[in-house]
Amino acid sequence: MIKISPSILSADFSKLAEDIKLVEAAGADMLHIDIMDGHFVPNLTFGPPVVAAIRKVTTLLFDVHLMVNNPQDFIEPFAKAGADLLTIHVETAPHLHRILQCVRELGLKTGVSLNPATPLSSIEEVLGEVDMVLLMTVNPGFGGQKFIPSMIPKIAKLKRMIDERNLKVDIQVDGGINPVTAREVVAAGANILVAGSAIYQADDIKKAICEIRGT
Ligand code: DX5
Ligand code: ZN
Repeated sequence: MIKISPSILSADFSKLAEDIKLVEAAGADMLHIDIMDGHFVPNLTFGPPVVAAIRKVTTLLFDVHLMVNNPQDFIEPFAKAGADLLTIHVETAPHLHRILQCVRELGLKTGVSLNPATPLSSIEEVLGEVDMVLLMTVNPGFGGQKFIPSMIPKIAKLKRMIDERNLKVDIQVDGGINPVTAREVVAAGANILVAGSAIYQADDIKKAICEIRGT
């Protein structure tokens, strides 16, 4: 079962609530919320107050992608704001195991994310501690970038790692996902697809979500 997590980074922020309800009505499985701090990535987005505000307008699962330095300082604020799944970049967390434990203790699902250049070996020891691995298929920071094709074998390799250990870990991909690249990442083993521009820039959002999901 392929799940779609529309990224509100490509929404119209002047009518954010409306744009969230649009993807909810169009069959989104969760909502991808990109948190950027201007340090780990060269862009700024939302903080906990915005997440708390949009928590009131939808029942969609909040898939919070933390692209910030010192992620340990933001676990509790985003948990309180209504995050359901919190994804930490391995590049930002020297004490990744501790941070994942902290996320789990707060009752949230745990995700760990890797930039395109970060090897899978960096998460080998925590694979049993996470619900999801997010493989970036662009360099994080902006929507609308081009999918990096060399990430396909990385997805397949991660899928093998998970299956060999009989784990139940979701593989999420993020960046440059459209109906065409969606086919390729799903064939490689991804099962949760994030898409921003391909959904919010489409004339028919419902059709775009179905095409990306392959239904
Ligand atoms: C990029 C973000 C993505 C972004 C994807 O750093 O993590 O979630 O919104 O945008 P598209 O789907 O347009 O590549
Ligand atoms: Zn993201």
